[in-house]
Amino acid sequence: MRILGIESSCDETAAAVVEDGSSILSSIVSSQMATHAKYGGVVPELASREHLRAIVPAVRLALETAATRLDQLAAIAVTQGPGLVGSLLVGITYAKALSAVEKIPLIAVNHIEGHIHAVASQFPVEYPAVALIASGGHTHLYEVRGGFQYRLLGKTRDDAAGEAFDKVAKLLGFGYPGGPVIDRLAPYGDPRAVRFTLAKMKGNALDFSFSGIKTAVLRWVEERGMEQEIAARRALLCSRQAPSIEDWLKVTPPATLDLLASFQRTVIEELLRRAGRSAEEIGARALIVSGGVACNSGLRRAAAEMRLPYPIYFPSPALSTDNAAMIAAAAFVKLRRGEFADAGLKADANLRIA
Ligand code: KG4
Ligand code: ZN
Repeated sequence: MRILGIESSCDETAAAVVEDGSSILSSIVSSQMATHAKYGGVVPELASREHLRAIVPAVRLALETAATRLDQLAAIAVTQGPGLVGSLLVGITYAKALSAVEKIPLIAVNHIEGHIHAVASQFPVEYPAVALIASGGHTHLYEVRGGFQYRLLGKTRDDAAGEAFDKVAKLLGFGYPGGPVIDRLAPYGDPRAVRFTLAKMKGNALDFSFSGIKTAVLRWVEERGMEQEIAARRALLCSRQAPSIEDWLKVTPPATLDLLASFQRTVIEELLRRAGRSAEEIGARALIVSGGVACNSGLRRAAAEMRLPYPIYFPSPALSTDNAAMIAAAAFVKLRRGEFADAGLKADANLRIA
């Protein structure tokens, strides 16, 4: 059974065809990174406009690559939320129209559930599991039970982990998105060089907070007066589409590389500490890590070095960041349960799974 997945919740227009919930026949991601890079973050109006431009070619290419005709589709799956409402609307409107015209059942998928299925559809995950979803918009810990039932265990009280990467990168002149560039520069610095003192949090011990780390970086930068080197990086960003690591290294002194490495280590430790504690609390048989931050090589390395009594699963990097294969994979479970959406389906910017 083939499902066409459509994802447009943030700044990627994605379409994919997935067979029987796990076999990815095509996964097309049309990225808007270049559009948003110079603004240091996603500009919602520009994102909607780019989705409008990209959605038809993305779907066409996904079907072509999968050698699949519309009449071979068992369903069309689309992200209902959470996300930017203008971006979500483009995917939902297109999916609804295609479903109505071609008489193909429609399935609504929660974006976060999609990130969970990026792992659940590819690995023999045993339940109960803990899912750590860390992206630009979310840093949440869920208990996942068999049959895909969710319970929220903890979440960020302020910035998401990816947002912290993006804000620190923007502050230091590295543009958007921040995660990939910090990930690639961190190995050149000493991760123990800068120690950030984080405020103790009251309440739920499984909640996260990343705004303190971001503020600590800001203070570090202000104390050192780094205007010149930051200006040099901003100039590089304006002069080239995508600077290489060698380009960045030429305009980034050792002390800044130490700062990046230390920032990344601190975020990773926070993520893994609380994920580990959650797993212990619920007696988890697996830990799922997904969302854009799951691409981070330092996080993957640190996770692999933890000696845990259960396996940790990461999606492939292409399935970690936003994509439509995860949406089609999540929809397969709903297809088997007969959970379909109707023509009244609406975007929900704050949709929750638990
Ligand atoms: O899941 P995603 O593609 O979109 C959202 O749903 O937000 O995640 C994007 C986020 C951005 O904040 C980006 O900086 C971060 O994931 N990210 C990374 C890495 N690659 C992407 N963060 C750390 N290390 C990376 N390698
Ligand atoms: Zn996402």
